[in-house]
Amino acid sequence: MIEVKKLSKVFKDVHGKGLKKLTKEIHAVNEIEFSVKAGEVLGLLGENGAGKTTTLRMLATMLKPTSGTAFINGVDLIREPEHVRSQIGILFGGEVGLYDKLTARENIAYFGALNNMKKDEMDTRIELLAKKLGMEDYLDRRAGKFSKGMKQKVSIARCIIHDPQIMFFDEPTSGLDVTAARLIHDFIKECKDLGKAVVFSSHTMHEVEKLCDRIAIIHKGSIIAVGTIDELKEKYQGETIEDIFVRLVGDGR
Ligand SMILES: Nc1ncnc2c1ncn2[C@@H]1O[C@H](COP(=O)(O)OP(=O)(O)OP(=O)(O)O)[C@@H](O)[C@H]1O
Ligand SMILES: [Mg+2]
Repeated sequence: MIEVKKLSKVFKDVHGKGLKKLTKEIHAVNEIEFSVKAGEVLGLLGENGAGKTTTLRMLATMLKPTSGTAFINGVDLIREPEHVRSQIGILFGGEVGLYDKLTARENIAYFGALNNMKKDEMDTRIELLAKKLGMEDYLDRRAGKFSKGMKQKVSIARCIIHDPQIMFFDEPTSGLDVTAARLIHDFIKECKDLGKAVVFSSHTMHEVEKLCDRIAIIHKGSIIAVGTIDELKEKYQGETIEDIFVRLVGDGR
């Protein structure tokens, strides 16, 4: 369902002026390759600055790759970004970016409209998601004063309004308490059970061990190991993913 082919991103950081102008190239992601099947959760594990967000933003067509591509449900990301967009959902951790002045329902509907959904179809889907996520009481309240957990639920509903087959999560539990993080974990498991392909970034080992079928360790923009938890433990002779991670990433490579 997801095939990533030599995907790379080089950022150009320009500083100084005139003759002293310097351009520094930042190789944020270097020719990474991996694939994810339907019903599979792939964890992208990496330190701060490893290239996780850059990778997910490219896969979600929010950032243009410098080279390489990915096929999402057989569709080439570079050639048909619009087509790809209709098949994916992305959930970010941290500030979820709702419109404060709009109600929960309006926030969700806005995304549905961006995905060309018809009003009837969207209304039914919003009611269903509100019920499922327990948002009925505040569906018609403005989002500005919502608690973090309430905002998180609205953002979940918003990213799955069009029922995408492919889901990307970028550190979705960062800053959440245990209950809110659990909600996200359950949601990821449900995506898997529904046969969606999931890519999920984190630097929390236990989260990755709990949720992922396979793990790709990304370090300084390159994927340095990929496999199931058991395969990685076997190959790198570690007791835990943390052992393996520290061994691979912490040796000054
Ligand atoms: N717009 C940008 N312009 C220049 N450099 C950037 C830009 N976005 C990211 N980078 C650089 O690319 C590298 C990878 O960043 P990225 O945000 O993908 O890391 P990350 O793995 O998501 O880290 P974190 O765990 O801190 O979220 C970093 O060196 C970062 O400074
Ligand atoms: Mg990030």
